[in-house]
Amino acid sequence: MMPRLLTSVLLLGALAYACQRDWDALHRRIHQHAAHNKHAKRATVEYPPTLTDTESILINSFDNKSLSDWSYYYTHGDHLGSHNKTMAEWTAQKWRDAGFDAWLAEYPIWVTYPEHSSLKLIRPDGTTHEANLVEDVLEEDDTSSYPNLIPAYHAMSASGNVTAEYIYVGRGTQADFQVLKDAGIELEGKIAMANYGGVYRGTKVKNAQDNGMAGCVIFTDPQDDGEITEENGHDAYPNGPARNPSSIQRGSVRFSSLYSGDPTTVGWASSPDSPRGDVSLYNPSIPSIPLSMKDALPLLAALEGHGITAKEANRSGWSGGFSNITYDSGPAPGALVNMDHLMNGWIAPVWDVIGVINGTSPDEVVMVGNHRDAWVIGGAADPNSGSAVLIELANAFGKLLAKGWKPRRTIILGSWDAEEFGLQGSTEWVESHLPWLTSTAVAYLNLDVAVSGPRTAFSGSGEIQTFVVDQMKKILFPEGWGDFPTLYDMWHNTSEGEISPLGSGSDYASFYQNGIACIDIGSDGGKEDAVYHYHSNYDSYAWMTRFGDPGFKIHTAIGQWISLILYHIADDELIPWDLPNAATVLQAYLSELNETIVESDFPDLDITPLEEAIAEFEKQAEHIASVAQTATAFGDDITLGVVNAKYKDFSRGFASVGGLPGRETFKNVISAPGIDNGYGADVFPAVTDSINKGDEEATVQWIEKSAKAVLRAAEILRVGS
Ligand SMILES: *[C@@H]1O[C@H](CO)[C@@H](O)[C@H](O)[C@H]1NC(C)=O
Ligand SMILES: *[C@@H]1O[C@H](CO)[C@@H](O)[C@H](O)[C@H]1NC(C)=O
Ligand SMILES: *[C@@H]1O[C@H](CO)[C@@H](O)[C@H](O)[C@H]1NC(C)=O
Ligand SMILES: *[C@@H]1O[C@H](CO)[C@@H](O)[C@H](O)[C@H]1NC(C)=O
Ligand SMILES: *[C@@H]1O[C@H](CO)[C@@H](O)[C@H](O)[C@H]1NC(C)=O
Ligand SMILES: *[C@@H]1O[C@H](CO)[C@@H](O)[C@H](O)[C@H]1NC(C)=O
Ligand SMILES: *[C@@H]1O[C@H](CO)[C@@H](O)[C@H](O)[C@H]1NC(C)=O
Ligand SMILES: *[C@@H]1O[C@H](CO)[C@@H](O)[C@H](O)[C@H]1NC(C)=O
Ligand SMILES: [Zn+2]
Repeated sequence: MMPRLLTSVLLLGALAYACQRDWDALHRRIHQHAAHNKHAKRATVEYPPTLTDTESILINSFDNKSLSDWSYYYTHGDHLGSHNKTMAEWTAQKWRDAGFDAWLAEYPIWVTYPEHSSLKLIRPDGTTHEANLVEDVLEEDDTSSYPNLIPAYHAMSASGNVTAEYIYVGRGTQADFQVLKDAGIELEGKIAMANYGGVYRGTKVKNAQDNGMAGCVIFTDPQDDGEITEENGHDAYPNGPARNPSSIQRGSVRFSSLYSGDPTTVGWASSPDSPRGDVSLYNPSIPSIPLSMKDALPLLAALEGHGITAKEANRSGWSGGFSNITYDSGPAPGALVNMDHLMNGWIAPVWDVIGVINGTSPDEVVMVGNHRDAWVIGGAADPNSGSAVLIELANAFGKLLAKGWKPRRTIILGSWDAEEFGLQGSTEWVESHLPWLTSTAVAYLNLDVAVSGPRTAFSGSGEIQTFVVDQMKKILFPEGWGDFPTLYDMWHNTSEGEISPLGSGSDYASFYQNGIACIDIGSDGGKEDAVYHYHSNYDSYAWMTRFGDPGFKIHTAIGQWISLILYHIADDELIPWDLPNAATVLQAYLSELNETIVESDFPDLDITPLEEAIAEFEKQAEHIASVAQTATAFGDDITLGVVNAKYKDFSRGFASVGGLPGRETFKNVISAPGIDNGYGADVFPAVTDSINKGDEEATVQWIEKSAKAVLRAAEILRVGS
């Protein structure tokens, strides 16, 4: 999973790699968009909710003790991508026990692992500080002392042994580097030191590389922790909810806005004899190393009084959370960093687990997936809160199967491997199942960090949103986190009804980019909740049971929610889409694009083609919704069959055959990860990219092509004359 991002459009959605929420960006977005967001007003919810018998069976099946058991299993062994086939087999067996068919799908992919890593500060007076690239062992946290701990590293980093002056670059966006260049600071050959905030970590490394820098260090800053810091008087984990100062955020630094999956087989499925390309196109050529906040302090302190000040930089996220640090850029003459990093890379097998219940209409398929691999022995939130939920979900559907129930549509579960290296398990599976998926998939539902705190979040396609929101109204929210009777009330409090577009933060990416309806759901912490130790040894069972979700009550609520979502999409006679809402969402994305255009070098660009295409989409959406309503009222199965096929297919129209410019495996013209962001999404991304490149001709072309994609979707929706 990747942390959250924040660019122009952003937010709740990046949940999956995510977990670092930028609250200011969220609120900016909420206030910009509330006016045209149909979910913005909090609805009155019936309490207690009324459930059907089947809904009650599913909901009552969730057991917090079982969830705790599954969580315990997943969080007590090394399960980094490619490391643990036994865990895959165990998962398959659990699903079989519940009544699913289940098997493993193996893919050979490119993996990287460090052989050696060290980082040393050499001050002008000759004194040195050797960074401790490991986390403290805590008596209260059993998995922090495992002998086979996974080192703190950046997957896909390059090797290198660099000794150079270093420069603090704030969040490390293109604009941050520009500020330094404008101030006359020489970047070439130096080491960049970025904080972890805002954009995806690989984007920071790419920007450093593009500016000729020789290495990159990325550190955790307390500004990511909201109110819950030691400076604000909170004890650090394990004694309290603040961040343990030794915690280190691992993660991939692949260029995630350019590709997903195995970097040696970009665009095709990996198999033992498939051709393999050159990874250097997609991964950094400079070394990078993650650092704890404790180890960042001496490096930041040594820059004090040199370069530009944080005030001069005047960039969001530049001035961090240590009140005694100035966050001056440096370089400081004679203050050097030596980073010595040796990475190995090779092809290794990874194992997805696939579970199936055949439906009575096998040409319609609904999928739920979650990755299984974790950066650390634990992984209690990322991703195994989702993995524990998936087993309970399988058991809940098993109760229906035991009563002789068969779903209308085929249900497929996916437990993906190697998500953390770059969505490898899910991407290779999708690539090896196209075009079957294109012709059958109704929706893909993603869980990654199902629970890292109490604040419910989701992002997803327009047609699916209304229904997903409605299911939340049926789920009771646990006590102890404020006065929120239902999950819906908690979600609305967190998001103010705003639902983000999908970027590429988790395993939904390959499905969504091929035009399949997707959602990504979960729950994380806000500014005042216990700090989640994302991608650190302290994302552990011990942390989860003390701070994240004592009693596994939030796990229960999220599991109940996704079970109802899955059940209705799989079994309702009419696929529960809200097409008029899909049109409203397109309209909102267009206003967002319009704002980008107004502020760009081409403020007079003509967006009429998109306006007209969306108007046509809206017309067909309204029409098919009324046809569906009438057919439902009259029990007209033949018409419902036609409508369902169109609901399943229309979003394929959004996938551009040749892909987005410069990144062919991203195809969805409606949203894709922002190029200089990596987690969060840009809307109408090909248009936005062309604007950012200053290419007016390409911009005009992509307005046309994007409008055609919207018209294709509208045409698929058309019923009757
Ligand atoms: C695989 O995971 C299980 C469960 O966490 C653990 O017991 C086992 O030791 C792990 N296997 C390896 C090879 O680390
Ligand atoms: C890395 O560079 C440093 C300084 O030049 C040197 O002392 C050290 O031996 C080098 N490390 C390796 C593994 O070559
Ligand atoms: C700054 O504050 C931190 C704790 O908040 C402390 O550990 C550190 O020693 C202080 N000073 C410097 C120069 O890092
Ligand atoms: C800082 O940047 C903001 C816009 O990002 C601008 O409005 C403001 O004037 C700038 N402040 C200074 C002191 O340059
Ligand atoms: C499910 O359907 C597939 C494809 O039609 C078939 O091969 C498989 O045997 C079926 N499984 C069961 C348990 O009926
Ligand atoms: C969220 O809940 C808090 C605490 O109950 C309340 O103070 C706040 O006004 C609520 N915010 C929204 C947007 O509902
Ligand atoms: C499950 O919930 C019950 C009731 O709240 C609680 O007493 C128990 O400790 C929970 N079990 C686990 C394993 O968290
Ligand atoms: C685009 O922005 C301009 C200037 O703010 C506004 O006049 C126009 O109505 C907007 N168009 C759309 C489709 O939002
Ligand atoms: Zn994850």
